Amino acid sequence: MSAANVTRTQVGIVGAGPAGLVLGHLLHLQGIESVVLEDRSREYVEGRVRAGVLEQGTVDLLIEMGVGERLKREGLVHHGVELRFGGKGHRIPFDELTGGRGITIYGQQEVVKDLIAARLESGAPLLFEVEDVRPEAIDSDSPVLRFSHGGEERELRCDVVAGCDGFHGVCRPAVPDGALSFREHSYPFGWLGILAEVAPSSEELIYCHHDRGFALHSMRSPELTRLYLQCEPDESIDRWPDERIWEELHTRFACEGWSLEEGPIVERGITPMRSFVAEPMQYGRLFLAGDAVHIVPATGAKGLNLAVADVRVLADALVRWFSTGDDTLLEGYSEACLPRVWKAQHFAWWMTSMFHRMPDDRDGFMARLQRAQLEYVCSSKAAATSLAENYVGLAYLSAPVDQIV
Ligand code: APR
Ligand code: PHB
Repeated sequence: MSAANVTRTQVGIVGAGPAGLVLGHLLHLQGIESVVLEDRSREYVEGRVRAGVLEQGTVDLLIEMGVGERLKREGLVHHGVELRFGGKGHRIPFDELTGGRGITIYGQQEVVKDLIAARLESGAPLLFEVEDVRPEAIDSDSPVLRFSHGGEERELRCDVVAGCDGFHGVCRPAVPDGALSFREHSYPFGWLGILAEVAPSSEELIYCHHDRGFALHSMRSPELTRLYLQCEPDESIDRWPDERIWEELHTRFACEGWSLEEGPIVERGITPMRSFVAEPMQYGRLFLAGDAVHIVPATGAKGLNLAVADVRVLADALVRWFSTGDDTLLEGYSEACLPRVWKAQHFAWWMTSMFHRMPDDRDGFMARLQRAQLEYVCSSKAAATSLAENYVGLAYLSAPVDQIV
């Protein structure tokens, strides 16, 4: 390989999703060099419709990092959420229950666009459409990322590698067999999601429990509504013409005095529901973050926020290590993240279990338990507070047990 094709950096970041881009920017702000490698095109990552709920802590961090200008202008701040069951809506007021905290609706791809713009403006390297990324020597002091770009074979020598390459990435599989343990849970349903060009029918999100299955009303802007329906896990989108989607949405959301507005469907897709955690989140000089190391079902709206929280911890640890040589935080990365990861995992599982029709619930036992839980959440301040504080987001470093706050 010619010398020109061998480069060096402090942190090699694989993946330009929220995890990789936030990490790259946090490091840049602290004067630490990184190179971000992304296998898709810029257009693809900027156009991919994903999650849309930002916790207060995520919003605060993006603003602190200097990438929150458009978010502050265009993000929709919500102070509560509606839980709908038995054909009636019940509001959970986040602000009253959490000392004024809330969530902001702002599409993940908008966050990604803002971060890409900031990265390009900083001049720090971000390569799109790289191919065949191979993390090597990750258990040595000088890990290497080999890849090809523009038809040329390249080698990036790093001090550490950050695997921010999502669930189907190459970093987690680069860890030798047996070094990580995996825990996972699959749910017997998926979500059919649509984006419709119509004003939202409600100011806040609606999580809806119905005998025919879960439905969710969300939004992206005053002109764009995002809607989801529980469907079969292996559902084919071809079986859902527009009329069927709208009819099913009307049925599940039915509520006196409320109607769902229809509009042209501009995007549609099926999302599987899965819980997955790999532990520890590091091996040698490879640090995994975001979807590369954990997946949560979308019901808790935690995926993006967990990814951001991981890299916040990782960036602090890397800054400490590069500036002082002290590796305590870096060695403790996984241990610092996992309590929050598992709490989010539990919250997402709990929300999922409370709202979805269970296919094997022959006599309706599970449905009755769900109704009891929903009624409890909507009538007990303690239960409503538990939902609210998890939804707006727990602290990114977990409080010690025994210290009840
Ligand atoms: N080489 C380079 N890049 C890769 C590779 C690879 N082999 N494999 C995947 N990628 C890229 C993907 O194209 C994507 O842009 O890594 C990026 C991973 O980004 P995300 O999947 O968005 O994951 P993350 O940054 O952890 O953010 C988590 O994404 O899936 C949603 O709901 C989830 O909101 C959560 C968020
Ligand atoms: C979304 O707007 O896409 C969304 C909102 C809440 C969720 C999941 C997805 O729980």
